[in-house]
Amino acid sequence: MVDKITSLAEYFQKYQESVADPEGFWGKIAESHYWHKKWDRVVDWRFSGPGAPDVKWFVNGKLNITENIFERNMFMRKDQVALIWEPNDPCDPVVHITYGELFDRVKQFANALKNIGVEKGDRVAIYLPMVPELAVAMLACARIGAIHSIVFAGFSATALSDRIIDASAKVVITSDGAYRGAKSIDLKSIVDEAVEKCPSIQKTVVLKHTGDEIKFDAKRDVWWSDLIEGVSTENTATEMDAEDILFILYTSGSTGKPKGVVHTTAGYMVYAEYTFKNVFQYNEGDMYWCTADIGWVTGHSYIVYGPLLTGATSIMFEGIPTFPDAGRFWQTIDKYKVTHFYTAPTAIRALLAQGDKWVTKQDLSSLKVLGTVGEPINEEAWRWYHDLVGKGKCPIVDTWWQTETGGIMISPLAGLTPTKPSLATLPLPGIQPILVDPEGKELKGNGVEGILCIKYPWPGMLRTTYGDHPRCFQTYFSAFPNLYLTGDGAKRDEEGYYRIIGRIDDVINVSGHRIGTAEVEDAINQHPKVVESAVVGYPHEIKGVGIYAYVICDDLTDDEMNTIEDEIRATVTKFIGAIAKPDKIQIVHGLPKTRSGKIMRRILRKIGEGDATNLGDTSTLLDPGVVDEIIAGAKVEVKR
Ligand code: WT7
Repeated sequence: MVDKITSLAEYFQKYQESVADPEGFWGKIAESHYWHKKWDRVVDWRFSGPGAPDVKWFVNGKLNITENIFERNMFMRKDQVALIWEPNDPCDPVVHITYGELFDRVKQFANALKNIGVEKGDRVAIYLPMVPELAVAMLACARIGAIHSIVFAGFSATALSDRIIDASAKVVITSDGAYRGAKSIDLKSIVDEAVEKCPSIQKTVVLKHTGDEIKFDAKRDVWWSDLIEGVSTENTATEMDAEDILFILYTSGSTGKPKGVVHTTAGYMVYAEYTFKNVFQYNEGDMYWCTADIGWVTGHSYIVYGPLLTGATSIMFEGIPTFPDAGRFWQTIDKYKVTHFYTAPTAIRALLAQGDKWVTKQDLSSLKVLGTVGEPINEEAWRWYHDLVGKGKCPIVDTWWQTETGGIMISPLAGLTPTKPSLATLPLPGIQPILVDPEGKELKGNGVEGILCIKYPWPGMLRTTYGDHPRCFQTYFSAFPNLYLTGDGAKRDEEGYYRIIGRIDDVINVSGHRIGTAEVEDAINQHPKVVESAVVGYPHEIKGVGIYAYVICDDLTDDEMNTIEDEIRATVTKFIGAIAKPDKIQIVHGLPKTRSGKIMRRILRKIGEGDATNLGDTSTLLDPGVVDEIIAGAKVEVKR
């Protein structure tokens, strides 16, 4: 297979090449793609100066990413299965879609989108459960040059409308409902509520999935099946510039509303394919399963784009790990003879807690490679995954990356890089990490710990934050000149291996989902009884990080006191979604503030960690007494 590294020595050699001559390195990789017109320059970039960041890859190249999935491979893959859909309920029929069938469905839906007025550059919001049509919809957008903005279907109406408004999307694609284990969720009514606030929306496309009854607005809504009825499957891909936007994906930061991270066509394509092949060491005939939702970047890059560009068979799973029982993942691996399995540490911890029997009952001998993503994996979970799931014979790729990076950045190459539990190990070729201290001074050599930055562009990196370029500079490029700031702390050990320690900003990774504490506070503050709140992460056995909210309320009666926690949780669910619901809520009379009014979150974090032995200097607090009150009423056991 083109561009696949096959030994550790070759990795080191390629890495050297990629640093010495990045243009030569990436140019050679991009040769294997299908271009209408090749690029003039491989990269043109600036992380500082007027209008920064200004990053362009494959300058003036012309292409379409779907031609690289379909036309490029069709002669050999027409009858090969591209997607296997495993439904929520294992008793329901499985769906196999070949490359040929997927191609036809994408072209037909692309034509259908054109028929309702979607043009190149228009934004299309997609709010769908994990059904094959989600992949069809995103690829159809890419086919005609429309920009997809996929919103995870667990987000609330408010969160959805915020994202639709920010991108001024013309169309939203949804379904009547979604299944989640034993529950079914009325997606359409969430979309109806959201769209009321979105004047840019001209059409809502509705896929019939659960068959539940829904409200239907004949002027605005159109059934997916009606939209494609009689529509041709002939479609010529729209020519895109290398730097035309492929998609927007919203993600949380330390301040304000979620940002629309922008990825462009050629660089993202080259990076998604290259990293997929190399990290997973994918081979022809392998059976690949990533359990993420396509609503997150992992699903974009490693369920859809990376695997399909490579010509792999990718499994799409609609359900949850514990339905109908805690054996679902292992049964599904057995059912399809999965060779490559990619999931989140939080799922591993949750299943570990259910006991070994679910795993040992199943035949997992097909497995060759295991992967993790989204948060640090603790050693216990790593060992269980390695020893029990992988029977000690499958390398684990602990893949560090971000929505902004587009693809995996630091990770072992499966079976080539010797691994160590909970270390993401080495940067991929083309990636130049650097650790700095808070003043921005480079920490050289090994055995150092600092703030993780990247000092050279890579093809998959974000180009801007949608509609607000200065915010992109401010967030990622202003802390240290000429460096991309990841927001993570990391340690480089004696061998040069990276261990990702976690976020250094007010972002938390809850069950691998990225949440801004400021966003949760804003949501909590919407409750009429709430005066002020402060949210921090605290160690949680399954979720990795749990959400701890300290909340000041107006005077509450005893009755109100009994219901306030549930009401606050409901408020957060309404404004963001259930994934951001606080695990612990402590009603307090005051928050530890400095005389200038800044909340000292460090103290709240320490208390959440259950350790008040070393709170540091509290003398600058306006009222040091509040700290004792908070410790006394803490929702976790606190050592003093
Ligand atoms: C943040 C990015 C990457 C796709 C899913 C998450 C954390 C990610 C790891 C890992 C330790 C990790 C970081 C990062 N993270 N992978 N292997 N080890 N931490 O994407 O939602 O943009 O979140 O997830 O803190 O900054 P995301």
